[in-house]
Amino acid sequence: MDLAAETATLDSRRPAETDAPAGRVVVRAIVAGIGGYLPERIVGNDELSRTVDTSDSWIRERTGIHQRHIAQPHETCAFMATRAAQAALADAGAAPGDVDAILLATATPDQAFPATALRVQAALGCGGFGFDLSAACSGFIYALSMGDLLIRSGQARGVLVIGAEVYSRIMNWQDRGTCVLFGDGAGAVFLRAGTGEGTGADRGILSTHLHADGKLGDILYVDGAVGRADKPGHLVMNGKEVFRHAVVRLSGAVDEALAANGMDHAAVDWLVPHQANMRIVDAIAKRLALPVERVVVTIDRHANTSAASIPLALAEAHADGRLQRGQVVLLSALGGGLTWGSALIRL
Ligand code: UT7
Repeated sequence: MDLAAETATLDSRRPAETDAPAGRVVVRAIVAGIGGYLPERIVGNDELSRTVDTSDSWIRERTGIHQRHIAQPHETCAFMATRAAQAALADAGAAPGDVDAILLATATPDQAFPATALRVQAALGCGGFGFDLSAACSGFIYALSMGDLLIRSGQARGVLVIGAEVYSRIMNWQDRGTCVLFGDGAGAVFLRAGTGEGTGADRGILSTHLHADGKLGDILYVDGAVGRADKPGHLVMNGKEVFRHAVVRLSGAVDEALAANGMDHAAVDWLVPHQANMRIVDAIAKRLALPVERVVVTIDRHANTSAASIPLALAEAHADGRLQRGQVVLLSALGGGLTWGSALIRL
């Protein structure tokens, strides 16, 4: 048995629930509120082409990105996460006292510790507990999965799940291969305990699937750390290799999510993929035979905001009325690690 491969994969399907006989009452984590925050400063492709050897047409054609939001000094990870969390709580009609746990996915925390989640806890005035979680661009799906587990196990009844990133602070602004791709921002959902019958007709998180392969750690990484004073680190990526894995693994992840729930592609109302490259998004939508109108796309305006990209996309589609109660939403992401995964939710 390949032990490394075995231990690197966490599959959080729940056959006990999804196979529950009709009439049985099960706990479900319901998405009760969604919010986002984007930095005020917008940087267009043309502005970048004045400092690195690139062009608006190359960036648009190869990635679909037109602009990105870049944080100002006061817009830290905690600041943006707090704004997004406040918006999610307000959307849910929830108070800080309803929050039992805060799970914050980020690769760009304010400090090594305390966890940025706890800076958010203090700013919101919540009790309970919280921690940061590192899974790069898949971080929100990982955190959502943990929030789902906390609720279904009965350890929490209200969980804030946040993705917040300031990748502008780990960019090598001389590397045109990476600096044009990323942006800053934060998104959050508030999960509230509810009940269902253990079928795909329930509201709430229907399944999550998490995967990782640490042997692929060197195709996308940060070459330093907070603990190294000489080298806080910059993002390094072998774009072509990551692209290749993204199409294959994300296609597998969406198939896996649907198969686990006995659903067909046609059951998906919205695909909300990680926003890394429009060509990857198109490939996944094609595989699902979903018209682009049923894919939430923000990459043109937000660029790649890593762990924030999916909750920001959810926040945008919720705010403009595209997302409606009862709809099925499929999330999928891939990031450094490599990490990848999916979540299937009925709103
Ligand atoms: O969020 C985590 C997951 N991340 C991803 O999924 C990203 C996956 N990778 C990608 O999206 C794409 O690989 C990139 C957008 C990063 C690059 O696109 P590509 O089509 O794979 O381009 P490439 O790296 O093969 O580069 C093609 C050419 C090269 O020039 P030569 O060697 O052909 O002369 C690059 O030097 O484009 C050049 N190039 C650029 N030119 C203008 C690379 N970056 C730029 C740039 N502006 N910004």
